[in-house]
Amino acid sequence: MRVLVIGGGGREHAIIDALSKSSKVTALFCSPGNGGTARQARNVNIEMADPAFIAEWAEVNAIDLVVVGPEDALVVGVADMCLASGIACLGPKAAGAYLEGSKSYAKDLMAKYGIPTAEYEVFDTSAEAMAYLDTAKMPVVVKADGLAAGKGVVVAVTLADARGAVTKCFEGLYGTAGDCIVIEEFLEGQECSLLAFTDGKTVLPMVPAQDHKRALDNDEGPNTGGMGVYTPVPAVDKATLAEMTRILEQTVAALVSEGIDYRGILYGGFVLTEEGPKVLEFNARFGDPETQVVLPLLKTDLVDVLMATIEQRLDEITLEWSDDAVVSVVLASGGYPGTYEKGKTIKGIDQAEEIEGVRVYHAGTVLAKDLTVFTNGGRVLNVTAIAPTLAEARSRAYEAVDLISFEDMQYRTDIGLKALRALGEA
Ligand code: AMP
Ligand code: GLY
Repeated sequence: MRVLVIGGGGREHAIIDALSKSSKVTALFCSPGNGGTARQARNVNIEMADPAFIAEWAEVNAIDLVVVGPEDALVVGVADMCLASGIACLGPKAAGAYLEGSKSYAKDLMAKYGIPTAEYEVFDTSAEAMAYLDTAKMPVVVKADGLAAGKGVVVAVTLADARGAVTKCFEGLYGTAGDCIVIEEFLEGQECSLLAFTDGKTVLPMVPAQDHKRALDNDEGPNTGGMGVYTPVPAVDKATLAEMTRILEQTVAALVSEGIDYRGILYGGFVLTEEGPKVLEFNARFGDPETQVVLPLLKTDLVDVLMATIEQRLDEITLEWSDDAVVSVVLASGGYPGTYEKGKTIKGIDQAEEIEGVRVYHAGTVLAKDLTVFTNGGRVLNVTAIAPTLAEARSRAYEAVDLISFEDMQYRTDIGLKALRALGEA
């Protein structure tokens, strides 16, 4: 099969890595890709916001399967166009991707079907939102309704913060994404992501993973796209995992009741509250950086799973997982998530990968003709280590981090540490 992966982050490199292990794959393309995918696939540059062009490119290049990484491409209808052209495409059509594309839609769906989530209100004028805030109990969470690259959410501790966040949304800080806002109750508890393959009938969960959203150690500093991740998550016991899985199944059933044919990845972002897991958000795609620790553990051929998802045959599939642990540390450019410079020479990746179990997934990198790797984004590399225990995976990952360098490199030193402390292993 000839496979095209859309996207250029660490997630897409991990997807390419998993696909390249399949005996069914004969050619791999990645658009736009990065310095890592350049070594395992052919990087091409197809305009992501143009679904008709993607479908046409896929047809001309005899692509059998398109795998969509980022949500924007799904929301504008890449899956709709590919499927209409008879090309298999992993990811829901635009109507399904709206679950991620509009937070108010997702909240209303959850409310309608009794899916556990934070209490919320939706506003489309600043005046109404401000009036509501005067009566609300702090902290609250203010969210731009539409896609804002993970930046449209403010956890407001004081009334002044909340008012500031509302003003920013309606002033257009997130473009039209902020024309409507959701204000919701702050949920207390650890966060955990559970991704699942679903064909609209069967839901096959992956292994849970815990992301670290804040830029700095001890969960301080601004929110980012994710600074590191690990699996398994000791905070998720069997009963909790069963409840999270039930919630994903309930969500797929709700989508079916709404007449939506949802096939692809359903990503549940959960908070483990005292009352049980509650949904923070849904994403319609693989998580980044969750994918970088989840897919390395999947023993089943990824192509078989993706094709069964698309062809509604997931009931024929049993996912097989390794029992190992994986820790992935994000190496970011100095200044991220604010402004940062690009074009710094990266050293030490090959040496790092000589450590047993270590794989370095590229995110914001570019490969020069002489094979030098340069930084090219905010999140640069995902240094990922697999080992029989979380403690070993963590120490291998940081051993590898120590071998890699570029100017102004920044990273968190505490990825997975809280989990190890809870286990009494750190
Ligand atoms: P979202 O894009 O909705 O996942 O929000 C980004 C981040 O904001 C989440 O990963 C949480 O850390 C935080 N957050 C969002 N909503 C809530 C909530 N209701 N309670 C607590 N934290 C939240
Ligand atoms: N890990 C956060 C996300 O993929 O949205």
